[in-house]
Amino acid sequence: MAWTAKEDLKPSKPLQGISQKQIDEHFNVLYKGYVNKMNEIETKLQDVNLAEANGTFSLIRELEKEKVFAANAVRLHELYFGNLGGDGKPKGRILDLIKRDFGSYEKWEANFRAQGICARGWVVLANDFEDMKLRTWLSDIHFEAPWSCAPLLVLDVYEHAYFIDFATGRKSYIEAFMKNINWDAVNQRVEFALGPMAAAPAHRS
Ligand SMILES: [Fe+2]
Repeated sequence: MAWTAKEDLKPSKPLQGISQKQIDEHFNVLYKGYVNKMNEIETKLQDVNLAEANGTFSLIRELEKEKVFAANAVRLHELYFGNLGGDGKPKGRILDLIKRDFGSYEKWEANFRAQGICARGWVVLANDFEDMKLRTWLSDIHFEAPWSCAPLLVLDVYEHAYFIDFATGRKSYIEAFMKNINWDAVNQRVEFALGPMAAAPAHRS
């Protein structure tokens, strides 16, 4: 099945401190570029010679490796754009969970911002199904978080995400990002990921 860009995830109203040009370049060129590459890779995999599979070099190895890179780039950007467009005021179940697992919202936010300064790609607040706790993960590239986690809030800190508006001023970009978080969207992810679960899943008890 072909991968398609999710146009409905593009913020539909102006953001605070982040220009439409910045969003357009990021969404229309970067994000859609990953979607196109995903389709290109999957098309080429249909004709790959499986008998040539080799761990040092083979077409199937290279295509499958880059497929993971491209797929996570698509997914992370969809999560990033999907958690923009709000008023930046934390609320609901996610706020309760952050307080539960980080001590206070302020303590979590300070850590999240600091990870945003030092990451080379992404910062992801996620629910870890291993113990049903929230954790914030730093990822320098498109795949570095444990597979037991469901992403809830995603911050893109690649320079392409902010250079038009902020040049090298990543701290100011993160400030603007925090003001535009759509916490309702984050809470929808919480409901989707956790459902009615409040404690460790049955197989861990
Ligand atoms: Fe990006």
